[in-house]
Formats: sequence, C-alpha cells, structure tokens
Amino acid sequence: MQDAQFHSSISQSAIWKQLQARALEMKKHRLADFFAEDPARASDFSLELPEFLLDYSKNQLDRRVLVDLLHLAREAGLEQWREDFFAGKPINATEGRPVLHPALRGGLAEDVEIGGVSVTSVVSAELGRLKEFVVLLHNGDLTGYSGKRITDVVNLGVGGSHLGPQTAIEALRAHRKGDVAVHFVSNVDGAQLTDVLAGLDAESTLFIVSSKTFTTSETMTNARSALKWLQRAAPEASAETLLGKQFVAVTASPEAAQKFGVLPERVFRFWDWVGGRFSLWSSIGLPIAIACGFENFRALLDGAASMDRHFREAPLEANAPVIMALLSVWYCTFMGYPAHAVLPYEQALHMLPAYLQQADMESNGKSVSRSGADVGYPTGPLIWGQTGINGQHAFYQYLHQSPQVVPADFIGSVTPGHELDGHHEILLANMFAQSQALMNGVDAESVARELSAKGLSQEEIKRLTPFKVHRGGKPSNTILLKELSPRSLGALIALYEHKIFAQGVVLQIYSFDQWGVELGKGLANKLEPKLASGALEGEDGSTVQLIEYYRRITGA
Ligand code: F6P
Repeated sequence: MQDAQFHSSISQSAIWKQLQARALEMKKHRLADFFAEDPARASDFSLELPEFLLDYSKNQLDRRVLVDLLHLAREAGLEQWREDFFAGKPINATEGRPVLHPALRGGLAEDVEIGGVSVTSVVSAELGRLKEFVVLLHNGDLTGYSGKRITDVVNLGVGGSHLGPQTAIEALRAHRKGDVAVHFVSNVDGAQLTDVLAGLDAESTLFIVSSKTFTTSETMTNARSALKWLQRAAPEASAETLLGKQFVAVTASPEAAQKFGVLPERVFRFWDWVGGRFSLWSSIGLPIAIACGFENFRALLDGAASMDRHFREAPLEANAPVIMALLSVWYCTFMGYPAHAVLPYEQALHMLPAYLQQADMESNGKSVSRSGADVGYPTGPLIWGQTGINGQHAFYQYLHQSPQVVPADFIGSVTPGHELDGHHEILLANMFAQSQALMNGVDAESVARELSAKGLSQEEIKRLTPFKVHRGGKPSNTILLKELSPRSLGALIALYEHKIFAQGVVLQIYSFDQWGVELGKGLANKLEPKLASGALEGEDGSTVQLIEYYRRITGA
C-alpha cells in the first residue's frame, strides 16, 4: 500500500546502501569495546517497560547504526503501516483481510467495524460465552454421556491452534485454577492420541476441536478418532449424543463445526481477521482459561493490550518491538547472520522457542516483496532454541566457539516461580554470565595467563591456548521480566508479535499470509491414497522408492 510513495524496493534506497557499508565497518569492531567508548550505552540501549527491562546493549552496532536503522524504518513507512494495522485496514493484502488480533485483547485505540459490525462487540460477546463455559466446567456442571462430571479436556489442534495455548499453560504453571486437567494432541501420529487417551476416562473427557479452517486433515483425523474412542466406550450412545455432550469446537468456520456434529452452543468462534499464529487471544485460548481460570486469561489479554498501546504510541526509537525488529533486520539482512536463538532461563517458558518459531518463521519466511518481485535479501531468521540451562549443556559450545554468529534473546524473570532456596540465583547468574561470555569471549593472552597460573609448561600452554580461546563478539538481547505472570506473558508474546510485523514492514514483505505451507499439504493429500494403491506413475524416483519400500514392508 505504501509502495507508491516509497522506492519500488527499499534495497535501492540510499539508507539501505549506507547500512550495507556500516555492516562491513561494524564487523571489524569489537563488541566489548562499545561499552568503553560509550559509557551511557547500557542505559541508553535499554528500555524499561512496566513488565520488563529490555537490555539491547550487547549488540554489534553503535548509535549511528541505530539511527540509520530507524531512518530505514521511516523510509519503509513503518509509522503509516502501524496506523493502518491498528485501524483495521486490509494490510494482509494477499488474503484481502485486515489483521486485528490486538482487538481480541482490547488493544485498539478505537473500535473498528467489519461488514458493519463492531469488532469490539463481537469479541466481547465471544469472551462472555467463553467465561460462562469455563465457569460451568469449573463448577462441575458439565457432564459426559453417562452423567459423570468432566474432569479432563483434550485440545485437538495444530500450529496456531495448539502452540499458543500449550505455551501459555506451561508458562503459567504457577497460576493454575480449578481441577480440570488439560491435554494436547497436535500430531496426526496416532501414537500421541493413543498415549493421551490411555490415561483418560471416556465418560469424563471433553474434546476441543481447535481449527480456524476446520479442514486441517491432521486435526480432523484426530477428532474422528476421538469420537471413535468414545463410541467404543459407549456403544449404547449415539454419535449425536457423544458429539453434543463431549465435543466443543473453536473455529472461524462455525458452519463446518456444526456439520461435523458440534452443537451450535458449543461452537466458539473467531474470525478470518485473526491469523492462526496470532490466535491464542481468541477463543483458541479456551484451554488457557480452563487451565488457569478466566481471570488469568483476562490478565494475559490485558498484558498484551499494554504492549499494543506501547507499540502504537511509543516513538520508534523508544519502541521495544520496533527496536527488536530493527536488530533482527540488522543481523539477518545486513550482517548476514541467518539464525536467531531464543533462550528462556525459566523452565515454564520451555515452549516459547517452538511458539516463536511458528510466529516468526511462518510470517517472515518469504522470498517475494509486496510488489511480487523477488525480494533479493533475507527476510527473517531461522528461529530456534530451548531453555538456557539445558542449552548450556548441549549446543552453547556452538554459540561460543563456532565461527558462525548466532544472535540470541535471553529471557528470564527477577522473581522465581517457586519457593526453593538458592536455585534462582544460580539460574540468573548463568543467564547473565552467558551473555557476558558470548560478548567478551576470552583472548589468547588471558587463556595463557590462566594456564600458567595452573602450573602448565610453556609448551603445553602453547598447544592448548588456541582451543580455549573464545572470540567473543556474539550479540544478544536480554529481556528481564519482573515476574512471569499472566500479564507479563501477554506483554512478552505481544512484543514478539509486533516485532515480527515491524520486521516484515521494513523488509517490504507480507507477514500475515503463509502460502508456503500449502504445497506440501496438497501433495500429502495426493500421495496418501497411493500408499494403498501403489499407483506411482509420474512420481519422482525417490518418492517411488520410499512408497515401494513402505508397501514391501507392510505387505500392501
Ligand atoms: O499449516 C499451517 C497452518 O495453516 C497454520 O497457519 C495454522 O496455525 C495451522 O495450519 C492450523 O490451521 P487450522 O487452525 O485451520 O487447523
């Protein structure tokens, strides 16, 4: 939408070229030296928000680069895009839709109407239904086919219809409410459904079929198998009764859910202006409200809304999502670092890397710009990671000594989510130490001094020193939450959501479609019957070999 007033490609702009030159310059600069050269760096390269401190001072750039990146963001029209986003303009142009997940949490400055209907009012009506349902469940007023109270809920959904709710429930372990247990089945590998169902009682288990489209074959297959499981346990009950009593749907296609057999009053809806990977704030969050209580779900939404306000109102230079987006643009597009690690120092956040993988990579893994032309530069990093402490004993070796540079986000909280003495200090000391070690490294002289103090011979010192040198210069952000609460989790996730959007705008791509997932889905549908029929004409040699091997071993 903005392209007409700006360059056909941002990469033709003078500021882009300047940043390319700066990247070459910055690569020669020692990251640790920035602090000596600029005593106010730590505080000036930090933002304190109500829920957390973002310290981005350990990054491979100086004030000039930051100014240039902000210039780039303005040149790319970020401020206008941000306004259009919150105003409900159809910024998801390839799907012809607005992108309004902030509306789900009260994050718009003003209500927006879609098709003459107020978004705020439909959201609040649906939230009201969700709340009523959770109260019924917690009060023990929902029963299965035999009259037994519902004690277990299984969410059947994948991608955005799974990752958000499970990530949030894991993160909010300390905030659980009620005694209804929530389980997740996302994989069409029947082993997962079998395992989950093995521990459950068919008389007291409720299934939530979570699918925006209600056509995702993995989810629908799991839903049908769940119904069969109920039917096996209750042959006397009709499918209609079982579906009516023990199935709930969360979807943007309510008609499809009703056609499946879910009662209209048990269909919770959301809308096509909510992207799957941004949907945890919608009815997709039902498992969160069940596991943690509606009030905590509301607090999660409020935390996200506070981030919406910040992103909407703060000038670009003091705007946490914008700064994180620009750092990501800097590394991925200008410095040529293709990956980014997410390292939570908080066990409860163990699913955050997986969540952000979908949110970021499904959004910005694109290779054409908004004009449809080849974009010609990397648009987003490969996101990966796991909890920091476990990572330290696994892949951090690579972070410290591989010649590849992997920028990282360290995420922890000041207040522990448990009462055990001594643990939290060790955890946080490790988090602070790792970002320091990655930044500073240790040079040959210091290694030699250390080995000499240990009494090693000169010959041994010479031999071992190269192996113990850490070059340093590995950049990171640290996000230090005051505490991991529903509110701060909401703010944290929304921080990343807006980072992803801002990055896409600056790099002139559409972040809210995901055409890249369709090809494989279509091919799987086409190949599935061929496993049985063996009609493999026209398939490539490798696919033929794999299917024939499958058929030989299974005796098909
Ligand atoms: O295959 C990718 C995807 O379309 C995601 O974007 C989405 O979150 C997931 O599948 C699940 O889709 P649905 O909620 O429609 O079942």
